[in-house]
Amino acid sequence: MTSDVVQFLQKRRSVATKKILPQAPTDDDIETIIACGLRVPDHANVQPWKIVVIQGDFRKAFDDEVILKAAEATSSAPLSDEIKQIESTRMQRSGAVIAVLSSVIEPHKIPVWEQQLSAGAVCCHLLIAAQSLDYAAQWITEWPAYNADVIAALGGNPASDKVAGFIHIGKKQAEPDERKRPLKQEKVEYWKAK
Ligand SMILES: Cc1cc2nc3c(=O)[nH]c(=O)nc-3n(C[C@H](O)[C@H](O)[C@H](O)COP(=O)(O)O)c2cc1C
Repeated sequence: MTSDVVQFLQKRRSVATKKILPQAPTDDDIETIIACGLRVPDHANVQPWKIVVIQGDFRKAFDDEVILKAAEATSSAPLSDEIKQIESTRMQRSGAVIAVLSSVIEPHKIPVWEQQLSAGAVCCHLLIAAQSLDYAAQWITEWPAYNADVIAALGGNPASDKVAGFIHIGKKQAEPDERKRPLKQEKVEYWKAK
């Protein structure tokens, strides 16, 4: 048995952010991708996550006002021109970035681990939705995901929230090469009673 979804998932591939062309997805497609991101398994419907879309000219504003400043604040020395160039263009490498914040509710009957897994599922759904619409996309974190000023700029609380991922979305310049995949015999067992 197969389906379009299975056939897509069997071939799905991310495109490294450095190879994504920074063409913006259409507004309709962004809305579709977000709708898929919100429809995730989530124990007890806690909704312990937030989605923040960084698109259009706001990508540059985020780079200049948040990423570059955070990079300068955490560096013990002035940034070189090369590093400034990297840090002031991070969000502009693709056409749109969807940040996912894991915002766990504590105390709660649903364990923190399960709430965090649900945020990972949001990232996965966003990624798969974007790729299924034939966009180049990649789920990354990099250092900004672990920076308190970046988390605050995304509307999160650095003391309790985490960035689960930045989903970069843009245009493919070529179909990505396949990457090494896990061997089923090393990762899968069919449990049997003794
Ligand atoms: C939580 C998480 C964070 C990641 N962060 C990065 C990253 O910062 N940089 C990177 O190159 N890949 C990162 N990856 C890996 C890519 O998302 C992806 O697994 C890789 O490009 C292969 O993609 P594919 O298996 O979808 O084809 C991360 C993956 C996960 C699950």
